[in-house]
Amino acid sequence: MDHDIMPTIIQKTRDRQALSASEIRQLVDGVVSGAWPDYQLSAWLMAAYCRGLTDTETFELTGAMADSVGPPQEPLGLVDKHSTGGVGDKTTLVLAPLVASLGLPIAKMSGRGLGHTGGTLDKLESIPGFTVDLSPEAIRAQVRDIGIAVVAQSSTLAPADKRLYALRDVTATVDSIPLIASSIMSKKLASGTRHMVLDVKVGNGAFMTTLERARELAQLMVKIGEFHQRHVTALLTTMNEPLGWAIGNAVEVNEAVACLKGGGPEDLRTLVLALAAALEQSVHGTDPDTAYGAARDALTSGKAWDVFVRWIAAQGGQPASVEHDLPLAPIAREVHADRQGWVAAIQTQSLGEVALELGAGRHELGDRVDFGVGLQCFAKIGRHFDQGETVAIIYARSEGSAEEAAQGVRAAISWSPQSVAVPPLVLDRIAGA
Ligand code: URA
Repeated sequence: MDHDIMPTIIQKTRDRQALSASEIRQLVDGVVSGAWPDYQLSAWLMAAYCRGLTDTETFELTGAMADSVGPPQEPLGLVDKHSTGGVGDKTTLVLAPLVASLGLPIAKMSGRGLGHTGGTLDKLESIPGFTVDLSPEAIRAQVRDIGIAVVAQSSTLAPADKRLYALRDVTATVDSIPLIASSIMSKKLASGTRHMVLDVKVGNGAFMTTLERARELAQLMVKIGEFHQRHVTALLTTMNEPLGWAIGNAVEVNEAVACLKGGGPEDLRTLVLALAAALEQSVHGTDPDTAYGAARDALTSGKAWDVFVRWIAAQGGQPASVEHDLPLAPIAREVHADRQGWVAAIQTQSLGEVALELGAGRHELGDRVDFGVGLQCFAKIGRHFDQGETVAIIYARSEGSAEEAAQGVRAAISWSPQSVAVPPLVLDRIAGA
């Protein structure tokens, strides 16, 4: 390794001169080995943030980060899904068993909740006995036996991203499209999966608040996938309202179970079917209608539910606990519409923060999560309510926190006396060639 190369790398990115593949490999090697100190990496990240990276540089950076753990391993699963995160996003709990029931093995690494967005691992851990820590051998065996495993991300997966992300977090360089795209896709490439669907959330509860930036991010991630011979489909989906009704942990598992049994909110079912169809289409090359029909049949026939029950048991969960609703916090406070009218807008992030303050999430990594608290918010943009109708139910541990949450819910919903159009859920679809 050339020990004087970092100043040159920083200068080139600062002056918008493209780095070669070899320079990018040396950059990433030094991230992992510790050869480059934080101050040089921070300077480079700021240069990349301000000046951008070319597509080719981003492809190379992603590949080098994906390889930073060593030579590629045998893939754990055939398909994968990634969501850029939002409020009430319990999609994986339904989608993973659904695609497994379609014969598409899935080994998904998930994360924990932080701030106003929840995490799949916390939701799963609200099922008594469920464990998210499996060895690679156990993941492989479970995927071979039942076609599905959802586990905590291994700390050794793409270690370069781990160090760079921590530096980005404290140097105001998170919000850069090439850096976000390479960070997300390096972990997806490292897991070896050939087919993936990306759910890029757009709106006031998401990382990407405008359609333009979300599209730019999605296009870049699809191109990274193409460069590395992966089949990537991205759906841009709305996060201008929570997904489904439930926000929390156990309450979201209950909603996912309802969806697997053929009920639950329509938007959740629609999104899960769209994502499953994208994977079915990607793997089998079927036309969109056939792929959607296969996904719908697997959900409505109970095939996906059967896989869900086997999956929960395989990871130590008590299957009986999901046959009926998981218990929620004892105080159930209803919030009623104080007028008749149509829901015009929802401050989605605020609703995520209501759940966070109830105890359903974490302010900081390491905080304890209360699985039983949360809320169901039945307000959806364009839905009509009569005065006094139930808009939300809050599940809290104390009267005081229930009251505070009720005020938060009221403040998050704007009303119109005229009817409001129901906005689309899927805003765009971007697929590789
Ligand atoms: N999620 C990631 O994994 N990386 C980013 O940079 C942003 C979101």
